[in-house]
Amino acid sequence: MIALSMKEKNFVNENFRKFLHGADYNPEQWIETKEIWDEDMRLMKLAHCNEMSVGIFSWAALEPKEGEYDFSFLDEIIEKVYANGGVIILATPSGARPHWLADKYPEVLRVDATGRKMHFSARHNHCFTSPIYRKKVREINSALAERYGKHPAVIAWHISNEYGGECYCPLCQQAFRNFLREKYGSIQNLNRAYWSSFWSHTYDSFDQIEAPSPITEQSIHGLNLDWHRFATAQTVDFMKNEVEPIKAVCHQAKVTTNMMFEYYGYDYYQFKDVIDFASWDSYPLWHSGNQEETAERCAFWHDFYRSLKKKPFLLMESTPSLVNWHEYNKLKRPGMDNLASMQAVAHGSDSVQYFQWRKSRGSVEKFHGAVVDHEGTENTRVFRSVAKTGKILEKIQEIAGTGVDAQVAIVYDWENMWALDDSQGFAAKDKKYLETCYAYHRYFWKRGINCDIVDRNADLSKYKLIVAPMLYMTDARTEESLTSYVENGGTLYATYALGMVNDTDLCHLGGFPAGKLKEVFGIWNEEIDTLYPDQTGEVTFRGKKYIAHDYCELIHARGAKVLAEYAKDFYAGYPAATVHTYGKGKAYYQAFRDGGDFKDELLSDISEELNLYKNLPSSKDGLPFGVTAHTRTDGENRFLFVENYSEDEVKDISLNGNYEDMLGGGEVTKISLPAYGFAILKSKIQ
Ligand code: GLA
Ligand code: ZN
Repeated sequence: MIALSMKEKNFVNENFRKFLHGADYNPEQWIETKEIWDEDMRLMKLAHCNEMSVGIFSWAALEPKEGEYDFSFLDEIIEKVYANGGVIILATPSGARPHWLADKYPEVLRVDATGRKMHFSARHNHCFTSPIYRKKVREINSALAERYGKHPAVIAWHISNEYGGECYCPLCQQAFRNFLREKYGSIQNLNRAYWSSFWSHTYDSFDQIEAPSPITEQSIHGLNLDWHRFATAQTVDFMKNEVEPIKAVCHQAKVTTNMMFEYYGYDYYQFKDVIDFASWDSYPLWHSGNQEETAERCAFWHDFYRSLKKKPFLLMESTPSLVNWHEYNKLKRPGMDNLASMQAVAHGSDSVQYFQWRKSRGSVEKFHGAVVDHEGTENTRVFRSVAKTGKILEKIQEIAGTGVDAQVAIVYDWENMWALDDSQGFAAKDKKYLETCYAYHRYFWKRGINCDIVDRNADLSKYKLIVAPMLYMTDARTEESLTSYVENGGTLYATYALGMVNDTDLCHLGGFPAGKLKEVFGIWNEEIDTLYPDQTGEVTFRGKKYIAHDYCELIHARGAKVLAEYAKDFYAGYPAATVHTYGKGKAYYQAFRDGGDFKDELLSDISEELNLYKNLPSSKDGLPFGVTAHTRTDGENRFLFVENYSEDEVKDISLNGNYEDMLGGGEVTKISLPAYGFAILKSKIQ
């Protein structure tokens, strides 16, 4: 394991070396009943909270008329929170704009994909290109930075709120054309890259290009892909425009933006260089369906956000009880909120934060869970649960700033997902890319093995094992990176649909997987068979039969050793899984989609061979149902989180040696966990 030294503790802000426990706070909604503000301060301390995120949707209060700022409420609140021992994450207000701004400058509002101009409404409804909106945002951000940037209470900036969506207005269309002009240089290059002679869709000039939409061109896959790239780039650029005035005033400012669960629209990897730390809003559907699956999927995103900056992230929003926007808004069962909060910390979060501090009295989120209910006191089940989390964070303070050491990474890549989903082939409606990534992640989750999530062109050198499910898009850089990873001793595990298209979505010629990857894996993929949902295939591996679902690729071993074979249909006897030694490493290939059992079998052999560190001793089948374990480290100590997501007590879970129980006290070598229970343990790294 790579040992981190104490010095490498990495905080969101060096001036605040603690866990944050807080919430989105909207005091402007209570401006006429200021006694509530004082009550909030009393309750904040009782809840063991030390942070408030303010200003998120405050533009109308802060700039009631164009150019006329009124910071009085924010002045008062920041002082109050600080005086009561709390710190502030200060938002920029671009997530929702005041009426006057939309009325006076309609260009700031979006046009949807069918060309309809949006009216003033809702939130997250801005044109990401509009020079006026950018200017207005810069102005208010500058004013906020000048006023509060150096305030000791302000430890970080929350830029906008959940950036998302697209705009199809004339300004955005023009910006898209410029983006393409810059990328391709000439229209001939673009035509070549897009294979646009197909259906006579050749462009004569950049002026003919329109954003893909239901009423325009959607059959050019390279164009569709570039539109996603553009939407990402334009939003990243919009964010830069927000950050610049803040950093100009305050060089040390730490900025983030709150990202989301399974957000499809932007390639989040592109935000990496604009944010100082990652943060996200987590709202899993606890208590619905398979609780293990819910926990694992949420864990995947915690792993993603930690991997994005390779350092602690913040759980910027979560609900202490229920949300108001699921189809069925179920309460978290007692204990679940504490467990879900510790799950984030186990994966590398340095905070537990809620949406929202106090339930609003009106409008669409009035029934969304909050620390303080309409009833208004500390005498609620939810409030007590939040206070309990606060006390736990205080007890485990030494874990703040520590890292997570992962020997395994899964490649999850937006561009790959967009291209794969766009491809008209395979199963038309759902290629199940993310689901497939989850399925591999689940193997490690069930065995308490730390796992990072990386993009297709990431630096892979520190990992012992890379799993690349359905890595359909490989460009020259990906090919080179995967090849040298294996050459230098890495173990790479890839699946069906590897290396089929390049980064403008043109098929690789000369056989799949692309170029050198054929040598690395020692295979050639000649065809792929898509099964109807009610059909299955069959695979034999070490004399045992496994079921294949959805995809069976017809591959040929060209140097690879055949591990498993198809046992059904006209391709019976073809290889279904292979391994190939290449340079100092090994490349495994799984040609079919399994139901979980096959990958468990093969990955468990690989994990043994690579001696992957397991946070708990576990059998080949993994930990008991619902149980998992994660570790953080400061280089000297290992902090072990054992979590039980099941509704049953799990008894006598053995540990890897002696641990100090950070919550209960004393030394332990075994623990039992009640339903939704968790333990936080510590041991010296030998
Ligand atoms: C998102 C938003 C919040 C709030 C919550 C409700 O995460 O950022 O403003 O609407 O959802 O769950
Ligand atoms: Zn626009």
